[in-house]
Amino acid sequence: MKVLAISASPRTGGNSDVLCDQFLKGAEEAGHESAKIRLGEKHISPCTACYGCIKSHTCVKKDDMASIQQRMIDADVIVLATPVYFYSMAAQMKMMIDRCLARYRQMAGIQNGKRNQGG
Ligand SMILES: Cc1cc2nc3c(=O)[nH]c(=O)nc-3n(C[C@H](O)[C@H](O)[C@H](O)COP(=O)(O)O)c2cc1C
Repeated sequence: MKVLAISASPRTGGNSDVLCDQFLKGAEEAGHESAKIRLGEKHISPCTACYGCIKSHTCVKKDDMASIQQRMIDADVIVLATPVYFYSMAAQMKMMIDRCLARYRQMAGIQNGKRNQGG
């Protein structure tokens, strides 16, 4: 299986990073393919709620989010790691999740209103 960890912490080597690395180490030891994305190294603009993606399934913003979406769709397992900032997820994580609007159904394996059953 493909395991993708996404870390929202701006701190390289911080707690979220360490947790991701340990999770991925376990996945690799179990024979799975692993990869990590550090949102702090990516350019992601906030969703502006234009709803253009509802029909096109493509975001009008041209930044790193298109490739992140594709990697999330290709993954079998997605792990989200975020620091708690003021009792909530870090803004980097929320911004990334909001930008999934264009393709979140594909990420969930839903096509033609039905969820893929997988193997
Ligand atoms: C802006 C800000 C807000 C924070 N708010 C909280 C909080 O509400 N509750 C908490 O337990 N820790 C809070 N913390 C501490 C972080 O959650 C904690 O240091 C975390 O382990 C950082 O993750 P990282 O090492 O992956 O960067 C906050 C830290 C920052 C910078």
